[in-house]
Formats: sequence, C-alpha cells, structure tokens
Amino acid sequence: TRDLSEQIKEVTKESHVRAENTELMLSFQRGQVTLPQYKLLLCSLYEIYQVLEEEMDRNSNHPAVAPIYFPAELARIKSIEKDLEYFYGPDWREKIVVPAATQRYSHRLRQIGKENPEFLVAHAYTRYLGDLSGGQVLGRIAQKSMGLKSGEGLSFFAFPGVSSPNLFKQLYRSRMNSVELTAEERNGVLEEAVRAFEFNIQVFDGLQKMLSVAGNRQRQSSTDSNAVHGKTLQIPGTF
Ligand code: HEM
Repeated sequence: TRDLSEQIKEVTKESHVRAENTELMLSFQRGQVTLPQYKLLLCSLYEIYQVLEEEMDRNSNHPAVAPIYFPAELARIKSIEKDLEYFYGPDWREKIVVPAATQRYSHRLRQIGKENPEFLVAHAYTRYLGDLSGGQVLGRIAQKSMGLKSGEGLSFFAFPGVSSPNLFKQLYRSRMNSVELTAEERNGVLEEAVRAFEFNIQVFDGLQKMLSVAGNRQRQSSTDSNAVHGKTLQIPGTF
C-alpha cells in the first residue's frame, strides 16, 4: 500500500484548490486582507485549535496520535491568544464571535477525540501542514496588507520551534506514514481529511457572511447592536 502522506495529499488536492479560492483566502493572496477579516479569522482559529489541541493532548499516548504529537513545535493556542489580546485587549475572551460553521467543526473535533482518536491525524495534518506551507507566505502578506509592524498580532503564523518548515514537513510525513492503520481506519482517515478541508471552507465562508452582514448593518446605520455580539452570530436561513 502507498504512503498515507501521499494518499492524503492526493485525496484532498481538489479540496485544497477550493479552500484557496474562498473569498477569504483570495483576499489574503491579493494582499487585501482587512483587519475585520483577520480578527474574525483569529476568533474561529481560537475555537478550532483549542479543541484540536485539547484532544491531541488527551490522546497523546494513543498509537495513532503519539507519532504526530509535536506540541512544542506546533501548538498554536498560546500564539492565537496573544494575537487576540493584541487586537481585542485584555477582555478578548468576551469578544470572541464565530459563525455556526466553526462550532460544527469544533464539535466534530471533540467527537472524534472521544470516539475515533485515529482520525485526529487527518485534522492535525490539514491545519498544521497548511500552516507550515501556504501559511508562511500568508503571514507576510497579512503583515503588509494591514500595515502591522514587526509581527505584532501575527504570532499565529510564526513557528519559533520549527527552524526549517520543509524539513519539519518531511519529518511529519514520515511520522504519519509510521502510524499503523487497518484498511478501514485508513479509509476513515482519508475521508476525514476531506471533511477537515470542508469544515475549513465552511468556516471561511461563514466569516465572510458575518462580515458582509455587519458591513450592511453599518451602512444602514442601524441601531441594531446584535450584529457582532454573543458567542455565535446566527443568520437565519444561511447557516
Ligand atoms: C500545502 C498554498 C490554503 C492546507 C500548501 C503548499 C502551498 C499552499 C504552496 C505547498 C504545496 C507543496 O508542498 O506541494 C496555499 C495557499 C492557500 C492555502 C496560497 C490560501 C491562500 C490552505 C488551507 C488549508 C491548506 C485553507 C487547510 C485548511 C494545506 C496542507 C498542505 C498545504 C494540508 C500540505 C500538503 C501536503 O504536502 O501534503 N499550501 N494553501 N492550505 N496546504 Fe495550503
């Protein structure tokens, strides 16, 4: 059988193209990412990484998780918290807003952490290898687009524990390939990776919808203060 790292890349290839072509990712690539977009993205990343990393920690001795468990090199939650505090101030925790898609994503992470820890490899791959690939370019673009200085508010993109992202990716792939999976488990992991990309795409689309609704409300100078308030913004009929 072929290597998991090759198979997972192949089955998610089309999803990667779709992820790159979401409105949010296109804004990044065009150097047009705005502060409201980035702040809202950080909120969702906070919820996603909080659950992903909690479940990775809890399952760190699971045979399918242990080989790809690199908290010192990869863990993002502290960096995201730092960025959120930079943008939202000390009471950032009360200002977190996420689309329903983000909650669906984190619920799924929680569920597989409990029921199918071997699927965590699919989610860890999708986020961390993405962050170590295109994410590196996106960080520099984001800094320029928003006129931020010296990496302020951009800790998310920085991996001080990884000196060579390319070498680390090679190591990560070899560790993925060392995980022993039955044929059924392997198919489950591949399916879950496609799902992981789909969750990300839905989060990005959900963010853009929140931004366009908030923008429309502001333009109408509505007195409605519900737009960006509370934990989830529910837009009837869209999520
Ligand atoms: C790999 C670009 C968005 C997940 C890569 C690579 C590039 C890239 C250049 C390296 C390809 C290679 O080594 O062959 C981009 C750009 C994006 C983007 C420009 C958007 C602006 C995303 C998103 C995700 C993602 C949203 C998932 C949430 C991945 C993964 C890999 C990867 C998992 C590793 C593939 C592998 O080697 O197996 N990306 N990406 N990317 N990207 Fe992205």
